[in-house]
Amino acid sequence: MQTLKLGFIGAGFIGNFQATALKQVRGAELVGVYALNWAEKLAEFAKANGLGDCKVYPNVAELCKNCDAVAVFAPNYVRIELVEQIVEAVKAGAELKGIICEKPLARTVAEGRKLIALAKEAKLPTAYFENQIHMKAIKNALTQLAPAQKSMGPIALARSAEEHGGPHEPWFWDPTQQGGGVLSDMGCHSIAVAWFVLTPVGKPIDFLEPVSINAETALLKWGRPKYRQQLLDRMGVDYAKVPAEDFCTGIITFRNPETGQLVKAQFTNSWMYDKQGLRLLMEGMGPGYAFEVNSLRSPLEVFISDAAAEAVADAEAALEKATASRGLLTVQPNELDLYGYVDELDDMRDAFLAGKDAFLNWEYGLEITKLVLAGYLSAERRKTIDLTDAAIRKELESYVPLIAQGKGAEVLM
Ligand SMILES: NC(=O)c1ccc[n+]([C@@H]2O[C@H](COP(=O)([O-])OP(=O)(O)OC[C@H]3O[C@@H](n4cnc5c(N)ncnc54)[C@H](O)[C@@H]3O)[C@@H](O)[C@H]2O)c1
Repeated sequence: MQTLKLGFIGAGFIGNFQATALKQVRGAELVGVYALNWAEKLAEFAKANGLGDCKVYPNVAELCKNCDAVAVFAPNYVRIELVEQIVEAVKAGAELKGIICEKPLARTVAEGRKLIALAKEAKLPTAYFENQIHMKAIKNALTQLAPAQKSMGPIALARSAEEHGGPHEPWFWDPTQQGGGVLSDMGCHSIAVAWFVLTPVGKPIDFLEPVSINAETALLKWGRPKYRQQLLDRMGVDYAKVPAEDFCTGIITFRNPETGQLVKAQFTNSWMYDKQGLRLLMEGMGPGYAFEVNSLRSPLEVFISDAAAEAVADAEAALEKATASRGLLTVQPNELDLYGYVDELDDMRDAFLAGKDAFLNWEYGLEITKLVLAGYLSAERRKTIDLTDAAIRKELESYVPLIAQGKGAEVLM
């Protein structure tokens, strides 16, 4: 089996999650990391876990010279500069087989187009990392229901949600850096997975045509004086001045171009979900059949009493974004596999070794960015946005949501 040598740019939350997922992936090694912080720790982890002889490199150019594919696992606001440096490295002779970008591809359509142009300039196959589409639970649901779908008709309503108590680093909370609030950060997941499950079995990922979107954004918890102060103290971000939404919801209508049938995706995301930890919820409803995924249902529960709680130092041992270390806890024994990271890495490795784009490429990532931005536009205007309207499509090309401009108070308060 051929091996793909991976280099990571960024060694924070997702760098560590992906490295842990790599323990379950064959034919891929982590050989290098470049990051402003925490690179040494990630390299040590890689070596200790047999992921590869991982070295810390001082810049993007050196990293690219020493790996086959490079992953951008750094914050949203440094995407363009990092991808520019990757392209420079390729021009200087680095022989890369592909380039990976985590969700969201970009904060605006203009940024997304720039990233795609850069990858094309360097003739690099791309992978857009949207792990939820790769979840075994989702793939299994669609396989199980394929015969029912063929005889009864496609899924007509998809519901998707990703919710937790709020992100782990200050830059996520700052809408001018991140690109918005929870709609930009997690709406991209839920919109993608809902569009995917609605797509009739065997059709391409962008087969269904987006027709319209109606969305709302709101600040339900972190704008209240008490929690705003906590956020300021903990993250240094002041939602009295530069707020972002901690809740969003919306409905997207898609059209089947062959049959004309309209189907709907209903998404909800929040940073104010104070239950055990991260919850993913996905549902699909077709005529006479349905599926449901709830990531907080696990065969494993543990109970830790108040008396024993002092012994528990790490709440996140149970779940991503876990909020409690006592009581009845849901534990997912293999979150990396559950959330789709393992299958996402497998798909990327096969594609790049074959000289192709991954199942989800950057052009697909840009389609998701457009839908997220149209969601912000709908929330700002308090009306349904017609995605088939040429004037709207043109407007989205240069649109920057008010929240991302730091003017969230005009929309949220
Ligand atoms: N798929 C998912 O569910 C998921 C989960 C978390 C994060 N993400 C995405 O991954 C990306 C990174 O998020 P994170 O949570 O790991 O962030 P993080 O803040 O935890 O870590 C960011 C890493 O990037 C490094 N970095 C920052 N600026 C850099 C620069 N200019 N050059 C090199 N390194 C730089 C930091 O030093 C750090 O190592 C984001 O785009 C985020 O949306 C995806």
